[in-house]
Amino acid sequence: MRILVIGSGGREHALLTGLKADPSVTDLHVAPGSPAHAQVATVHPEYSQVGDPARMTELAVDIAADLVVVGPEVPLVNGVADALRERGIAVFGPSASAAQIEGSKAFAKDVMSAAGVRTARAEQIAPGAAEADIESALDRFGPHYVVKDDGLAGGKGVVVTESRAAARAHVDAVLAAGNPVLLESFLDGPEISLFCLVDGETVVPLLPAQDHKRAYDNDEGPNTGGMGAYTPLPWLPEEGVQRIVDEVCTPVARELVRRGTPYSGLLYAGLAWGAEGPAVVEFNCRFGDPETQAVLSLLKSPLGQVLNATATGHLAELAPLQWQEGFAVTVVLAAEGYPASPRKGDVITSPDLQDPTRILHAGTALKEGAVVSHGGRVLNVLGHGATLDQARAAAYEVLDSIELEDGFFRTDIGARAARGEISI
Ligand code: GLY
Repeated sequence: MRILVIGSGGREHALLTGLKADPSVTDLHVAPGSPAHAQVATVHPEYSQVGDPARMTELAVDIAADLVVVGPEVPLVNGVADALRERGIAVFGPSASAAQIEGSKAFAKDVMSAAGVRTARAEQIAPGAAEADIESALDRFGPHYVVKDDGLAGGKGVVVTESRAAARAHVDAVLAAGNPVLLESFLDGPEISLFCLVDGETVVPLLPAQDHKRAYDNDEGPNTGGMGAYTPLPWLPEEGVQRIVDEVCTPVARELVRRGTPYSGLLYAGLAWGAEGPAVVEFNCRFGDPETQAVLSLLKSPLGQVLNATATGHLAELAPLQWQEGFAVTVVLAAEGYPASPRKGDVITSPDLQDPTRILHAGTALKEGAVVSHGGRVLNVLGHGATLDQARAAAYEVLDSIELEDGFFRTDIGARAARGEISI
């Protein structure tokens, strides 16, 4: 099977590494990819417009791809999967209509309401709203205030704050950018990322994970795309995943089928598990980053065959997924200034830089033969172990070996779970 992966970050490095290990995958390509991906795939840096359906289809046709796996959300929301399917190419990723589950938070709320799925109460503020309407909308929420950019913001458009002034400042910033704002009620309880393979009404969950969204230890600092994750969740009861599938993912998949926009690909449910059970914080239409790096590192089933079965409408016939025992942790090494204005171009060294079982490259480039930082989230370091503590220790041991001037990472990824401090 010849596979083209679209994207360039750590999530795509994890996908490529998993696909490379599948004996049915004979040829791997990535667009635009990064120099680090050249280790496992043919890289196509000239195809950098990943949001352009015509350009991505041109490459897929040119290399005669049997399957295209789309990493980020922008190509999906822009209709890359639709364009590929029109050309008869199998694609892992939803149509533009179904990708609205991430592309428009108002659409996601509407689907959840119709499907009877528990989620936060929400109100939209449109650009041009009157001052009095903005203030009275804020009066009806918070604290805590949850203020979201109602568009694609790469996980960075959300501010959760007890401060009315900070909430108002984010409302103003989003409106000034011409986007609508979504105000939401605050959902209490530990967060869960559950990724499900979805093929129409067939829903197959992967291992549950937990992301750490704030930049600094103890959940302090600004929201980021994610600073680290662990999987599975020792505090989630055995029936927890099935409850999320039954109460959240399957009803949403059925509702999308009912609307004539069936989902095909990866449905990412971001949840908070409160007193009444799981409630949806957000949906994404693709693999999450950095949870994927940990989750896929424990998958024993052949990834290419799993994604192909989903893409070609055969998910219901797929054998049950097989997983390695134990835990996986991924810790993000970020560049100085992330998330506001990360510094690029600093040299990175480590004996493990070329070992994708320990280090996946999220934002690196090559400069005069040296690996240098090239994004906010630079590396995703992996650790595995029979216990969560052992997996954490393994990841932090790798981090000890890495040099990146002024780079930083959270030291508490998975720590509260390992100490038994999370319960539902
Ligand atoms: N882990 C957050 C995201 O992928 O959006």
